[in-house]
Amino acid sequence: MWKGRFHEQTADLLRSFSESISFDWRLWRHDIAGSLAHSAALEKAGLISKDERAQIAAGLEQIGAEIEAGKFEWKVELEDIHMNIEAELTKRIGPAGAKLHTARSRNDQVATDIRLFLRDECVAIGAGLREMQRALVALAEREKDVLIPGYTHLQRAQPVYLGHHLLAYVEMFDRDRQRVADARRRMNVLPLGSGAIAGSTIVLDREMVAKMLGFDSITQNSMDAVSDRDFAVELLAALALVAVHLSRLSEDVILWASGEFGFVSLSDAYTTGSSLMPQKKNPDVAELARGKTGRVVGNLVSLLTTLKGLPMTYNRDMQEDKEPVFDSVDTIKASLAVFAGMLGGVKVNAAACAAAVADPMLLATDLADYLVNRGVPFRHAHELVGKAVALCTQRGCGLPQLSLADYQAISPEYRADLFDCFDLKKAMAARKGTGAPSPGNVAAQIVRWREALGA
Ligand code: ARG
Repeated sequence: MWKGRFHEQTADLLRSFSESISFDWRLWRHDIAGSLAHSAALEKAGLISKDERAQIAAGLEQIGAEIEAGKFEWKVELEDIHMNIEAELTKRIGPAGAKLHTARSRNDQVATDIRLFLRDECVAIGAGLREMQRALVALAEREKDVLIPGYTHLQRAQPVYLGHHLLAYVEMFDRDRQRVADARRRMNVLPLGSGAIAGSTIVLDREMVAKMLGFDSITQNSMDAVSDRDFAVELLAALALVAVHLSRLSEDVILWASGEFGFVSLSDAYTTGSSLMPQKKNPDVAELARGKTGRVVGNLVSLLTTLKGLPMTYNRDMQEDKEPVFDSVDTIKASLAVFAGMLGGVKVNAAACAAAVADPMLLATDLADYLVNRGVPFRHAHELVGKAVALCTQRGCGLPQLSLADYQAISPEYRADLFDCFDLKKAMAARKGTGAPSPGNVAAQIVRWREALGA
């Protein structure tokens, strides 16, 4: 490839050390799109003829069709996607192909390709997140009457609708969608025309190229343009958070599917058995989604570490951006799809949920609120309920099993109507402030999300 300055062949070891075609071949579509737009700018500047541009277009189209059909032969000695395509084009069409790289470097070319690639992936990931949200909303709606204990510190805290719990994740994934869309907005700027570092003495119509490729604008500093990978970091950060959200949901599903909780059972299609223990039905989807968080977070750290300390401008280190980016994109898309599928097959064990949420200790705070409504300062009310809880612990009973006399021995503020606090239906209906899980609120949120998600 390098016929001018070099006299010796690249060492075999360097060849395999430095090649990127084994993974960056995935950029072929975007590389071809970039070249097509670039050739239009070359024609406009009078650097190639109309006919030459047509030859380039036909050649690239043919190459693209062969790649698509899996018939194109990648050559490791041509190092990367850019040189593989360009060399093959020149082999096929001759001089016109050799003109294509005018006023262009692989530095601005690869920066353009990755932006184009990730731009599409942002849309696909946004769709995956939406699918996931829809699956959660569907489950919330299907099981809208089911109450479960809500937990803090993994200790039973207060009753909530299962739907309220699920919709918490819908909120998280919505912020994820916004972050991905936001990252896309910032990456949608054209670097092509920045050359290797300092643009070119040959001036092309960059605005036209941007328009052809669907970029919102063009970069304003050639040095930044060829060395900026912020957009990839931003996306990897957004995806790391998606992975963390999936991992937390996984943990809930794993707990809920355990014998100890027994709140849900997962469908056979999304679980596996044990090679040894015949009774096992393992929540592998959730475990794998949780496990894959490690690599998705790792990919973010990997790219940040690669970029740290790089002097201006492009350095070959930057070739290391691709594998983490590809891996996170692939991992998140797959995790979202399989998780959404799994949620569709979740069966809720209503009896187990009802038994767990019947724990009257879950309503201890409601009893304190009862005293507050009677004019007792909250800190004092907290203590008066605490005394009742202590008495229950001593007797091995629940709050509703204490007598009125027991309560009044603790405080005269307790009256016979205190027992109304233990009516779960009333307790839920009372939680009607914005964001709280009254049945009306949860139903309204389900409607809101269904409309927002077009489900
Ligand atoms: N394969 C390279 C990369 O991904 C393309 C840019 C190479 N530029 C260079 N001057 N060697 O970063």
